[in-house]
Amino acid sequence: MKKPISFSNKTYALDDGGHYLIRPIQADDRDRIVELFNHLSPESRYLRFAHAISKLPDDFLDDILHLDYTTEMALVAVIQSQNAAEEIVGIARYVTPPNQSICEFSLSVSDSHTAHGIGTHLMLDLIAHAKENGLQEMLGYVLSKNLKMLHLVSDLGFEITNLNDDPDFKTVSLLL
Ligand SMILES: CC(C)(COP(=O)(O)OP(=O)(O)OC[C@H]1O[C@@H](n2cnc3c(N)ncnc32)[C@H](O)[C@@H]1OP(=O)(O)O)[C@@H](O)C(=O)NCCC(=O)NCCS
Repeated sequence: MKKPISFSNKTYALDDGGHYLIRPIQADDRDRIVELFNHLSPESRYLRFAHAISKLPDDFLDDILHLDYTTEMALVAVIQSQNAAEEIVGIARYVTPPNQSICEFSLSVSDSHTAHGIGTHLMLDLIAHAKENGLQEMLGYVLSKNLKMLHLVSDLGFEITNLNDDPDFKTVSLLL
């Protein structure tokens, strides 16, 4: 893989006049990620993790907080509140198996901040980062009933295919 290319933070406007920042996850984001999870409804947790989950496992948190930012990346969307505290309202992540150039993504946006384009911007920035770092394909497994997510990735140019052995999921993939 070529020399790693770092991510330049980006600021986006919200319709209410506010804005949010998209930046790479940092090792000290642990509590903010737990807060984001706590703001996901049971339905959203199910759509993201494909099973009922009431608490983020510690090893999952360890994994997403410690990345090489090249073959593994997590971008967070951050809103700064009036007391200057940061709230993470969305996260997009990819991981790449060793010696491969196909990465697998996941995406979550806080229920209170959906339908403002945050998920789309997180994915666009994640795709650009994967591409700049030499990855060749991004794929994901999306529950067939998750029409919102299927619509979102279809708008981004992902190809959607049925899984022969599991009608509950679809594979979505994008050549980078
Ligand atoms: C699916 C999910 C990631 C979407 O995130 P999001 O931030 O709402 O996504 P976006 O806002 O970019 O797009 C969603 C809709 O909002 C619309 N939208 C985008 N910008 C908008 C704006 N500024 N104002 C109003 N609506 C807007 C989009 O057109 C889209 O509508 P459409 O589906 O009718 O085309 C989020 O609902 C989620 O986290 N769900 C639970 C977890 C999950 O399903 N994860 C995916 C598993 S991999």
